[in-house]
Amino acid sequence: MKYQKVEEVKLILEEDQKQITNLQKLNDLKIKYLGKKGLITELNQYIKDIPSEERKEFGLCVNELRNEFNDFYETKKNLFETEILNQKLEKEAIDITLPSTKTKRGSKHPVNRMIERIEDLFVSMGYDVVSGPELETDEFCFERLNLPKGHPARDMQDSFYITDEYLLRTQTSAVQARTLLANKDNPKPIREIVPGKTYRKEDDATHSHQFCQCEGLVIDKKENHVSLADLKGTLEIFVKEVIGDNLDLRFRPSYFPFTEPSYEVDVTCFKCGGKGCPLCKDTGWIEILGAGIVHPNVLRMNGYNPDEWGGFAFGPGLERLTMFRYGIPDMRYLYTNDIRFLEEFDRKDDSDAIK
Ligand code: PHE
Repeated sequence: MKYQKVEEVKLILEEDQKQITNLQKLNDLKIKYLGKKGLITELNQYIKDIPSEERKEFGLCVNELRNEFNDFYETKKNLFETEILNQKLEKEAIDITLPSTKTKRGSKHPVNRMIERIEDLFVSMGYDVVSGPELETDEFCFERLNLPKGHPARDMQDSFYITDEYLLRTQTSAVQARTLLANKDNPKPIREIVPGKTYRKEDDATHSHQFCQCEGLVIDKKENHVSLADLKGTLEIFVKEVIGDNLDLRFRPSYFPFTEPSYEVDVTCFKCGGKGCPLCKDTGWIEILGAGIVHPNVLRMNGYNPDEWGGFAFGPGLERLTMFRYGIPDMRYLYTNDIRFLEEFDRKDDSDAIK
C-alpha cells in the first residue's frame, strides 16, 4: 500500500486482532480504532498533507481499512454472541424427563352433573331452561300458586322469611307464576324447566336447609289435550334417561294447592330393587317428585284463561335423583364438601350422555 500511515495502522491492527478473545475486548478494539480518537478515525487528519490529486485515493484507502475492520468486528461479534447464547442454553436446559408438579383441577359437583343431564334431556324435547330469583316474594312463592296467606298447606313448607314479604324460595314452582304472568298479554304455549336452589327450614338426616329442585311446566291450548297421560309419559322418559332403565313408576294421589289432581311419584328403590329395605322403609318405593295438572286458579290468577289453556307441572328434588344415579348412600355427602368425595366424580365418564 502506498500510504505509510495507513500501512502502519493496518499492521498494528493485524497484531491487535490476534488478541481478541471475547466481546469485551472486541468492543474495546472498536473504540481504539473507530472511536473519536481512534487510529483509523485519526488517519483523516493526514489528508491535508497529501497532494490534492491524491486525496481521493487516500480517502479510498482509509475507507477500505475501515470496512475491513467493520467486517472483522461483525463476524467476531456474531461468533461471541452465539457462544454466549449456547452457554446460556446449556446452563438453563430443562430436564423434560423430570415429573412435573401437578396442577389441581376442580371437578363438577354431582348435583350440577345431574342438572346438566336434565337440561340436555328436556332441551332435546323442545323445552326452555329458565331461572328465577332465589330471594322470592310471598306473592310468587305462594299467593299466585293458589296458596293465599293463612292457607294450611303453607305448613308443608317451613320457610326462611327475610321480611314479611320476602323469603328464600321454598320451591321452584314460584317460577311457574312468573312465566305465566310474563305472557299474560299474549298467552302462548309454554314448555319449560327451572332447575335451581330452594330453601326450607329443616335439617335432619334426610333433609338439608338448602336443596335443589327442577320445576317442569307444560301449558298448551285446551284443544291440544295436554293430559295426565302426557305427564306420565314425560316422567317415564325422565326417570329412564336421568336415573336408569328398569325402574317402575308409581303415581300416588296427593295434594298440592297449585295442581288438581295432584300426585306424588315414586320409583322402585335403587338399593333393594323393590324388595324392601331400610332406605325405602320396607315399601320398595322411593318418592322422587310431586306433580299434577295445573290448577285452573293458577292459570286464572296469572293471566291465562283456564277455559282455553291447560297443562301439567312437576317438581323433582335433585339430590335424591343424584343419589340414585350415582349410588350415593347418604345425602350429606353432597354438601359436606369432602374433596375426596367430589374427586370420585371426575373419573366417572358420561358415555351414556343424552344426545
Ligand atoms: N313444588 C312442589 C314441592 O316442592 C312439587 C310440585 C311441583 C308439585 C309441581 C306439583 C307440581 O313439593
